[in-house]
Amino acid sequence: MARRSVIAGVGGYLPKRIVTNDELSRTIATTDEWIQERTGIKQRHIAGPTETCAFMGARAAAAALAHAGAGTEEVDAVILATATPDQAFPASALRVQAELGITRGFGFDVSAACSGFIYALAMADAVVRTGQATGVLVIGSEVYSRIMNWADRGTCVLFGDGAGAAFVRPGTDRDGARGILSTHLHAQGTLGDLLYVDGAVGRPDRSGQLVMNGREVFRHAVAKLAAVVDEALAANGLGHADIDWLVPHQANRRIIDAMGRKLDLPSEQVVVTVDRHANTSAASVPLALAEACGDGRIKRGDLVVMEALGGGMTWGSALVRF
Ligand code: UT7
Repeated sequence: MARRSVIAGVGGYLPKRIVTNDELSRTIATTDEWIQERTGIKQRHIAGPTETCAFMGARAAAAALAHAGAGTEEVDAVILATATPDQAFPASALRVQAELGITRGFGFDVSAACSGFIYALAMADAVVRTGQATGVLVIGSEVYSRIMNWADRGTCVLFGDGAGAAFVRPGTDRDGARGILSTHLHAQGTLGDLLYVDGAVGRPDRSGQLVMNGREVFRHAVAKLAAVVDEALAANGLGHADIDWLVPHQANRRIIDAMGRKLDLPSEQVVVTVDRHANTSAASVPLALAEACGDGRIKRGDLVVMEALGGGMTWGSALVRF
């Protein structure tokens, strides 16, 4: 049988500080009512000075290893998705590797904005299937609070900070049908100006802040996410009725609810964290996974579909038997 990779554990980390909508409404022209009605967001976690991409990523990774019952000696690859690395290089993945005391294998960062975790999971699946790695930490870690234009009410109310991680290893006979069934990645660079960060270390003349055409991104999100989930199901000969859990990217409650309706899923089978975490970009899917596995909703044997869409434009899905 072909080698299959398994998600053996998941974990998350959220900054200590919580900022409510009311708190934001004291500094910009917004209201708790507008934010909740248009997005479902009630609050977000905001990183303190020491809560960096690598710091939070290492803590989420350690939690994923603990959940899997695995030690750092089992890790031979670290793949970290972020749009907010601490440095241009070394990769934040390698800062995490060093912080966890891992001295073998390889690591790199993935830049795919909010789709980053799905992209990183696809890379982990590929390196495990081809035998290049036997224990992969897949991490999404983001500090979007540092790239926000805090005077732009159209974007600054939407995002939060945090990190989530999964530990991926080859399946064994004892895993049965468990595993990553397939991943599906897409990108369309011609849509890059709908959501971007204006500058980086190579363009210090720019603001370095996030810019978004929310209405247009919303329109693409609903259509493209529904299509990429159906693509994953069709690739495995499965249908909507086979899904136990939808773990969607947490950008907007209205997009999440539209996805649930398109997939004929009752809201009890959709994992939602956007109300408490807001949009944590590449961290949103693994944070939601960690929450739903941690509280016992997602159980062994459940079929979980994950999806995300973000700047690039990038989008993708992963179908996983837990
Ligand atoms: O993670 C990457 C993917 N990102 C997404 O999926 C985000 C997709 N987009 C969205 O979630 C929504 O488009 C937003 C939440 C960003 C905006 O919601 P919307 O219903 O599309 O609102 P809008 O941009 O059409 O704005 C409606 C009104 C505008 O006022 P006028 O022009 O109608 O007078 C905005 O100026 O709401 C105003 N507005 C606000 N009002 C109070 C925009 N932001 C705010 C705010 N508070 N924070």
